[in-house]
Amino acid sequence: MQSVLRSVGLLSLLFCPIGAIDIDFSSDSSIKAGAAEIAYGLVKYYTGNNTGDTPGNLPDPYYWWEAGAMFGALVDYWAYTGDDSYNKITFQALQHQVGDDADYMPTNQTRSLGNDDQGFWALASMTAAEMNFTNPDADQPQWLALTQAIFNEYVQRWNEAADTCGGGLRWQIYTFNNGYNYKNSISNGCFFNIAARLARYTDNSTYADWAEKIFAWEQSVKFISSEWQVLDGAGNGGTDNCTEVNGALFTYNHGIFLHGAAYMYNMTESDTWKTRVQGLTDSLEGTFFQNGVMWEPPCESSSCNTDQQAFKGHLARWMANTAKLAPFTHDTIMGLLKTTAAAAAQQCDGSPASGFKGHAGTACGFSWLQGSTYDGKTGVGEQLNAMSVVMTMLTDSAPAPYTSANGGSSTGNANGGASDDSKIAHMKEITTADKAGAGILTALTLGALLTSCVVMIKD
Ligand SMILES: *[C@@H]1O[C@H](CO)[C@@H](O)[C@H](O)[C@H]1NC(C)=O
Ligand SMILES: *[C@@H]1O[C@H](CO)[C@@H](O)[C@H](O)[C@H]1NC(C)=O
Ligand SMILES: *[C@@H]1O[C@H](CO)[C@@H](O)[C@H](O)[C@H]1NC(C)=O
Ligand SMILES: *[C@@H]1O[C@H](CO)[C@@H](O)[C@H](O)[C@H]1NC(C)=O
Ligand SMILES: *[C@@H]1O[C@H](CO)[C@@H](O)[C@H](O)[C@H]1NC(C)=O
Ligand SMILES: *[C@@H]1O[C@H](CO)[C@@H](O)[C@H](O)[C@H]1NC(C)=O
Repeated sequence: MQSVLRSVGLLSLLFCPIGAIDIDFSSDSSIKAGAAEIAYGLVKYYTGNNTGDTPGNLPDPYYWWEAGAMFGALVDYWAYTGDDSYNKITFQALQHQVGDDADYMPTNQTRSLGNDDQGFWALASMTAAEMNFTNPDADQPQWLALTQAIFNEYVQRWNEAADTCGGGLRWQIYTFNNGYNYKNSISNGCFFNIAARLARYTDNSTYADWAEKIFAWEQSVKFISSEWQVLDGAGNGGTDNCTEVNGALFTYNHGIFLHGAAYMYNMTESDTWKTRVQGLTDSLEGTFFQNGVMWEPPCESSSCNTDQQAFKGHLARWMANTAKLAPFTHDTIMGLLKTTAAAAAQQCDGSPASGFKGHAGTACGFSWLQGSTYDGKTGVGEQLNAMSVVMTMLTDSAPAPYTSANGGSSTGNANGGASDDSKIAHMKEITTADKAGAGILTALTLGALLTSCVVMIKD
């Protein structure tokens, strides 16, 4: 049977010469060509630059956060490969979505925005600053200033009430959104990550103090465990005071803390941060890798939703940057990424009947544990993940993130941001045409997630 399948496979190769992404990972030009093919299939999903469409939005079923995540990855794509094919649409999208207060809370999104949704755009603007991406005209919002605005808003939203976990950001910004009582690692991870990066970029100690505080809080409520795993969050910030932790282990939660910690280590060179980076690095393999290949443990063996299908690429990019900023992790991290990149490229030989507009035979599947048998899945997340991990194979020749003292030219505004109440007052009528981007749906529904995997923390 095996050999019959193999012959059919060989025959189809003979008759369909176009397709499949065959990368020689010892050659930078081959890696770049492979990443370019995957990026091409990714950007084909984007319609925001068509006449009459809205720059920065992806079509259904993709929520607004994922567009921010995609443009952030495209900034890195340019920085790693030198291919500026998508810089124009990336620039346009990252500027169009800034909103009236220059803080990535555009009126169309505000009502349903979660801290993490806004956060993924902040991560993108921070990457633009660090990679010295094209600066907007002086009278337009600058990358650094945008990130600072969101940092300032996060500070206002930090919630220290003693009976709601003694700190932390809530998942949602507004009381009327589902998940307002959930305090979670990705929202606090976004805050931590930009605080750490702003600290290194600006050398302003306020940001470093916050990074320390957020990390310590995550540990205090055991969202970061003593085994250096990053748990998803706790469901009833209002009543259980973060004692009932949802133990789901998602790749992006781990990655966002590892990455931020690497910036803090790079800047401080302290033993404390070194220990944290080392701990979060050492726990990667056992948590997120099978035979050296990355997977998404909470859902990959059953079914990941659209949001969850876009998480693995973030861990890959953040691991790669960690290898740069904390060189003592380089060999461990690059080893894991290398086997993963090879497995991911093998999945990029799909020709789904619908839903993919890249070149035939180059659609990337979701599960990298499937070898070269395309798993039939296709979408923005699949392309984003594969592009991200493949381009990490260029890490050693890519620039390290710049700082304002060293190569970065983005200008800031330490006082940016606005109050959340003022936005509600200005919120426009919500029409059915608006996308309901009700937060990143971490798993199934919040309710199911809370009942399915609750870890009781005993002390
Ligand atoms: C939108 O951007 C893509 C990618 O750069 C490009 O191929 C396409 O022509 C653009 N569409 C329009 C209408 O400009
Ligand atoms: C908000 O939605 C309107 C109508 O769809 C669109 O014209 C506008 O460009 C959107 N604004 C932003 C910032 O996305
Ligand atoms: C709630 O949890 C926080 C953080 O663990 C703790 O400091 C605080 O004492 C707890 N409050 C109550 C009322 O148990
Ligand atoms: C900080 O990052 C830079 C850039 O990759 C690297 O050269 C340097 O060694 C790092 N610093 C420390 C203390 O590891
Ligand atoms: C960053 O961009 C500015 C403005 O375009 C440029 O002058 C500067 O040389 C760039 N820095 C690096 C390190 O390329
Ligand atoms: C440092 O950042 C804080 C927080 O945004 C700000 O209030 C302060 O003015 C900044 N300090 C300097 C010297 O820029």
